[in-house]
Amino acid sequence: MQLLNLTPLDGLFDPHIPALTSTAPKSRFATATRSHLAGELRASHVGAKVKLGGWVHRTRNLGGIVFLDLRDRAGLVQVSFDPKWTPAEALERAGKLGLETVITLEGEVAARPPEMRNAEMETGEIEVRASDFRIVGPANTPAIPVARGRGEKLPAEELRLKHRNLDLRRFELQKNLILRHQLQQTTRKFLDERGYLEIETPILSKPAPSGARDYVVPSRVHPGEFYALPQSPQVYKQLLMISGFDRYFQIARCFRDEDLRADRQPEFTQIDIEASFIVPEDIYSLTEGLLAALWKDAGLEIPPTFERLRYADVMERFGIDRPDTRYALELFDASEAFRGTEFVVTNTVLAAGGRVRGLKVPGGAALSRKQLDEIEGIAKLAGAGGLIRLKRGAAGLEGPAAKFLSESAVQRLAIGEGELCLLVAGPEHVTNPALDRVRQDVAQRLSLVPENKRSFLWVTDFPLFGREQDGTLSSVHHPFTSPHPDDLHLLDSAPEKVRALAYDVVLNGLELGGGSIRINDPSLQRKVLSLLGIGADDAQLRFGFLLDALSAGAPPHGGIAFGFDRLAMVLAGATSLRDVIAFPKTTAAAALFEDAPSAIPPEDLRDLHLQTIAN
Ligand code: AMO
Repeated sequence: MQLLNLTPLDGLFDPHIPALTSTAPKSRFATATRSHLAGELRASHVGAKVKLGGWVHRTRNLGGIVFLDLRDRAGLVQVSFDPKWTPAEALERAGKLGLETVITLEGEVAARPPEMRNAEMETGEIEVRASDFRIVGPANTPAIPVARGRGEKLPAEELRLKHRNLDLRRFELQKNLILRHQLQQTTRKFLDERGYLEIETPILSKPAPSGARDYVVPSRVHPGEFYALPQSPQVYKQLLMISGFDRYFQIARCFRDEDLRADRQPEFTQIDIEASFIVPEDIYSLTEGLLAALWKDAGLEIPPTFERLRYADVMERFGIDRPDTRYALELFDASEAFRGTEFVVTNTVLAAGGRVRGLKVPGGAALSRKQLDEIEGIAKLAGAGGLIRLKRGAAGLEGPAAKFLSESAVQRLAIGEGELCLLVAGPEHVTNPALDRVRQDVAQRLSLVPENKRSFLWVTDFPLFGREQDGTLSSVHHPFTSPHPDDLHLLDSAPEKVRALAYDVVLNGLELGGGSIRINDPSLQRKVLSLLGIGADDAQLRFGFLLDALSAGAPPHGGIAFGFDRLAMVLAGATSLRDVIAFPKTTAAAALFEDAPSAIPPEDLRDLHLQTIAN
């Protein structure tokens, strides 16, 4: 007979050591007051005396017999209170138990009679026959329900975020956070095995180059000066390479004060990686290996290598640098069909150097006028002037623009039976975003997205610079990204044509991560900063520490960072980052549970040398 080492330390139980049958599996969760988790009990435990602790998930009082589902992190188990094994006094108390009360109980695991078995519950073959219980954590009536009936909707998300402590008790969120933990462990193991060192970098850091999106922290001891919370550990990881650590990683918290969307949080986590003496290929294979290991955690297999597409090509084919390639619907250039016609809309655009681009939608001819108007609304919202619609009807090509097209133009467009052609005229900065939105919307509407497909890809050869509206250059990735060595001669003459040694990894239209090879030559770094409008003095002031470090012997280096919350979201099958973060912020960057941000007393402001301005 094997005994569990259960010493009652806190007086919750009688000083009684329950005997387990020799075959009953022990639990690694056993403590002085608990022998198992409720949700881990199985038929193999039948006959075992157990001590459990958990939350009252559901109760059924059948008058004389009380059933309750006891919940803990591992799941649910049915507990029965019955005069055959429960003293009358305990049975009476059990009948009055409120939901979400925390109890500890003692009982024996018994097989359920065949007709009482529940195949949908992992513990459905057994029940625990309670001989006694205690309330150890009384509970008020829960503000939001934890247990949900089949098909019962969740309360509004705002309410759930306000009562996050209760919401986190839901199995879905428990499962997501447990998966998140596993993914972190897998990441650490994978990178450790390859010689990557986990090194922490500061949270109180220096305001970033374009500090507009920094969260700042006032310094009490340096009046009028501020720290910034890091947008990423970018500069620090480069400094670690320069200091000779060779391979670094961190599961790093990052902070960005930017407009939020479902795939963005103001405070988020990256798997941040940097290595020395590498080329992009090294990062590609490391990433493909790491993602394969993470997907394996979720029981899924992914391709050993990912397709690689150049930035210029993805923009032409999909209108976005993170295309969802699970479905085709590729963009094409219809400019030639419209050149020389009497159609004013396209003529004006073509004369100004713009193009007419669009996509053909198989089966799209069946969409109603109302649906097409909705799609046009989406294109307009993204900046298009309108949407040109063409389809093949019984009498030939139909649509307001059809009458302008010559026979050869119609042939050139080659719109097939049942196809719908949607076109936008304009410069690329108009057609790209509009057609991307239209492409995504149409794919959803016509159910063209294969839900179970995983389409990983690399986007490479990004431009080093983009142009701001005021004509100045800005970094597409960040100012430390290396120009492509073949394009260095273009830095002065045609900076927009310079490619970067930068890459993004994309899954089903979601940017999972991005990185680059960095500049390790201080004079090239100064040059790039000056092209970005950061003069020598300014550069020294803002990046002097990095420039000095680059001058002290810097190895070639590069890296990547993955959005860890995004990875967890995809792997958990969730649709919002909030479902994989324990205490997330809303889209207005508010924490509803703890009510942050909030005002601080005037005397604290004074200590920080701050004054607020009423708007
Ligand atoms: P980047 O800015 O592309 O690169 O960020 C890397 C990845 O982080 C994720 N991410 C976010 N996730 C949630 N909420 C946000 N607000 C958010 N912003 C970004 C994305 C993104 O791909 N230092 C560089 C990396 C490098 O060059 O090594 C960086 O931060 O998944």
